[in-house]
Amino acid sequence: MVRLSVNLNKVALIRNSRGSNYPDLIRVAQDCERFGAQGITIHPRPDQRHARYDDVAALKEVVTTELNIEGYPSEEFMQVVLAARPDQVTLVPDAPGQLTSDHGWDTVGRADELRDIIGRLQAAGIRSSLFVDPEDNILEGAVAIGTDRVEFYTGPYAHEFSRDRAAAVAPFARAARTAATLGLGLNAGHDLNLDNLTYFAAQVPGLQEVSIGHALVTDALYYGLSNTIQQYLHRLADAGN
Ligand code: PXP
Repeated sequence: MVRLSVNLNKVALIRNSRGSNYPDLIRVAQDCERFGAQGITIHPRPDQRHARYDDVAALKEVVTTELNIEGYPSEEFMQVVLAARPDQVTLVPDAPGQLTSDHGWDTVGRADELRDIIGRLQAAGIRSSLFVDPEDNILEGAVAIGTDRVEFYTGPYAHEFSRDRAAAVAPFARAARTAATLGLGLNAGHDLNLDNLTYFAAQVPGLQEVSIGHALVTDALYYGLSNTIQQYLHRLADAGN
């Protein structure tokens, strides 16, 4: 069964827009778990415009499912996650100020730097994941670095889905088989939604976790948070794995 990790960055963005603690990220995280989410994700960016660094330790105190922290491994980010020890850290290659993640790591060109960072995470008992594009040489590079998992960047799948879903998913299905052969754990995220999730989860073998934020929080405006999470869980169940 693929786990649903709810990315709360957009909830934090609403909170920050008024400078108060409303909505309360901690309470929303607890409610997401109560409504069936199997994980909570935040992605504190260097400008902390949505999730902030101090949200990491606060969430670690209360999350009882799995806490996944995404981010670029600056020394500041590393200090925060090494202190809080979330269940998983997903490293992204984003430049500071980037609007959203839009590509995966060059696991070959940046191997030395990433090997050291992943070694530090693993030494602290944190599962590591690398945000990647679905390419064989990138997956081979990820194995050589020693990461526990990779997270496929699914933006291109989501963008192509309505035009040709089979073609859109094909590179991910193929790369998922490579990942399994190489012994890499597999997550996925970005632009997944109620329309495109079931097909992706059905076609991509070995998928362990999806993290979904933007669409899920948007859907919650219409359906409510509890109902929305149930719908995402049903979409994953419909995929049959
Ligand atoms: N994975 C990574 C690495 C991300 O940066 C994001 C966005 O914060 C997501 C997954 C979730 O993407 P979305 O908000 O489009 O569901």
